[in-house]
Amino acid sequence: MKGVILAGGSGTRLNPLTRITNKHLLPIYDRPMVTYAIEALVKADVTELMLVTGGTHAGEFLRLLGNGHEYGIGRLLYAYQERPGGIAEALALAERFVGGDRVVVVLADNILERSIAGPVRSFQRQPHGARILLSAVDDPAHLRHLGVPALDSDGRVTKILEKPDDPPSHYAVTGIYFYDERVFEVVSTLEPSSRGELEITDVNNWYVERAQMEYDVLDGFWGDAGESIDAYYAVNDFVRLHGANKG
Ligand code: DAU
Repeated sequence: MKGVILAGGSGTRLNPLTRITNKHLLPIYDRPMVTYAIEALVKADVTELMLVTGGTHAGEFLRLLGNGHEYGIGRLLYAYQERPGGIAEALALAERFVGGDRVVVVLADNILERSIAGPVRSFQRQPHGARILLSAVDDPAHLRHLGVPALDSDGRVTKILEKPDDPPSHYAVTGIYFYDERVFEVVSTLEPSSRGELEITDVNNWYVERAQMEYDVLDGFWGDAGESIDAYYAVNDFVRLHGANKG
């Protein structure tokens, strides 16, 4: 299984910090944000990685990560996204790297308390389809900024809504996604959303509509450090006190 870390986008919600650097290079406690996504994958034995980034600070990733060996990465490739055209557009840049294999995608602003080794193993056993990781979020105002699944009485996902006015459940779809080899075909059929982006939620709903979407509910803390300046500090505080990606 290959790993793809998405670290492009414009980071406008952390402006003006992101005028002088890429969001994913900002510190979370004692190291740059992107290193947590790398650690999550490497600890789950996913060591063939591609990092997708863009904008004016892309070169700094090379300076930080080099060939990746210092971080336990076996093979590290880089791709450059010309403009922030969406998460699914960024993923499309990894098609040749993934090369018909399965892939786990991590948004580089997502920080987890616990290891993703369990879900990685579950996806390896899954015959086909996709898998998402959900996190329980009680506050509906928070859910309105995230992807939210609707679930039926058997607990199956019936649809995922992106930034819904009226969240249909108390779960957030986190930015860790698992896909089988069809994902790039799916991305190639997408049309830009009203915000002009190729949406990962549309990719996920393709699998949901075919009843090929599985999920795990995460134990422990999950945070999107790019959501707002308050979320950024909440993630920093958590990691400083409790750590991240623990086994
Ligand atoms: O964090 C989880 C949420 O991430 C999910 O609940 C949502 O369903 C999903 O759409 C996404 O929402 P965000 O509004 O947080 O996405 P954002 O535009 O902030 O992008 C998240 C990361 O994806 C960002 O840190 C870098 C990467 N990205 C994003 C865009 C738009 C790229 O690499 N390229 C891009 O063009």
